[in-house]
Amino acid sequence: MERLNPDKLPQHVAIIMDGNGRWAKKRNLNRIAGHQKGIESVRDVVRTSRELGIKWLTLYAFSEENWRRPKYEIDTLMDLLNRYLKGELKEMLDNGIRLACIGQTEKLPQEVQRTLWQTIEKTAHNKEMTLILALSYGGRQEIVQSVRNMLEDIEKGKLTVKQITEERLSKYLYTAGIPYPDLLIRTSGEYRISNFLLWQMAYTEIFITPTLWPDFRRERYLEALLDYQKRERRFGYTGEQIIHPKQEKTQHK
Ligand code: FPP
Repeated sequence: MERLNPDKLPQHVAIIMDGNGRWAKKRNLNRIAGHQKGIESVRDVVRTSRELGIKWLTLYAFSEENWRRPKYEIDTLMDLLNRYLKGELKEMLDNGIRLACIGQTEKLPQEVQRTLWQTIEKTAHNKEMTLILALSYGGRQEIVQSVRNMLEDIEKGKLTVKQITEERLSKYLYTAGIPYPDLLIRTSGEYRISNFLLWQMAYTEIFITPTLWPDFRRERYLEALLDYQKRERRFGYTGEQIIHPKQEKTQHK
């Protein structure tokens, strides 16, 4: 396999982890077995990202729409998430991984919220990589929430209408301070964004693979990164204007 160029790695990778159910169905197993196997892929991709020096990794672990699933599946997913967080704390601490989350996390079960915030607190000083879990996350809901917060600040006199710019709005999103994703990976072959990071992905490169999430391990991930490295990111410029492909200036602090 070709080698990755360490100077051209994405700074931020976002992943829609899809296909756990199909993976299980193909094997005559229940959907839960697919999610359990999917957690192994989560570990593999987190480890590989850290090894490569990718600074930000966002995983779409539970969407706002996922609340529509059968209660049993939701409960099991929450339990898996809780165990994953507890089980991974040592690895996060040993490897300088900071945990963060985006989404309406107040909707998560109390127990999961407790583990989540404890893990975020305990890993807050880590600097090598930030793992962001999108939980009860929806891109439209995020934009609505940020508009509400902006209007509240206007009411309080902290902000004026004229001061609303793209940069200012981005500071009201859950992802304030996080660079926009350079690469989106979606597994299991669906060509959809599914309400994920709508604002943030305006210029994100998209890689869609038919591989089902439980089968998406290190090798497949490296293939996606290699594919990304072959692309020319133009951000509206012409190819000639881009001598050295550079990343969009996305860090709004
Ligand atoms: C999509 O597969 C996957 C999910 C809805 C949840 C993703 C969750 C995990 C990988 C495990 C928990 C996560 C963490 C971070 C510990 P699907 O069920 O939609 O599959 P299908 O489309 O084939 O039915």
